[in-house]
Amino acid sequence: MIHQQKDFTHLVGKLQGLSATQIEAHLGLYAGYVKKLNEIEEKLTKADRAQTNYSYGEYSELKRREAVALNGAYLHQLYFENLTAKPGKMPSALEKALIDSFGSVDFYFKDLKAAASATPGWIVTTYSKVDGKLHNYMMFEHHIGLPVHQDVILALDCWEHAFMIDYGTKKPDYLEAFLKNVDWKVVGERLAA
Ligand SMILES: [Fe+2]
Repeated sequence: MIHQQKDFTHLVGKLQGLSATQIEAHLGLYAGYVKKLNEIEEKLTKADRAQTNYSYGEYSELKRREAVALNGAYLHQLYFENLTAKPGKMPSALEKALIDSFGSVDFYFKDLKAAASATPGWIVTTYSKVDGKLHNYMMFEHHIGLPVHQDVILALDCWEHAFMIDYGTKKPDYLEAFLKNVDWKVVGERLAA
């Protein structure tokens, strides 16, 4: 087992607008991705490289799903790490970077919510090594849509499983709840790193 599941049980029942049932169910899915990632990597150590094939082959299928499980595990880790029961003020360096990149913090929130409304996957706020600015990028499933040269500083899970227990189809209400629980200190530390 190379990949370890991190413990986020401290969030259960402690977040604003995200119920214990919702977070517990979500943590269960996260655990599943970590398990599958370890399983895929283990199988890849033995899979016959001669059996690769565009249509089907054990090795080819494992390689096709490897990034799904890896991003499924680590995007969820980033997501739960950037949630907190005790949200604080946004660090000034992060605020400055958001203003430099989006014009204002309000416009960053507006862009984040607009992008989140349009994907069934993820929105990640990144520090781009291409232009030195912050961007919101839209991802599909777990493995499609993240441009190169990006460091993820905030992960927003937009899959229905992240909110449907609490909000049904009312995704805008989930996005408001998410923003109430963001740990801006963690996001600021990721940017500083
Ligand atoms: Fe999720």
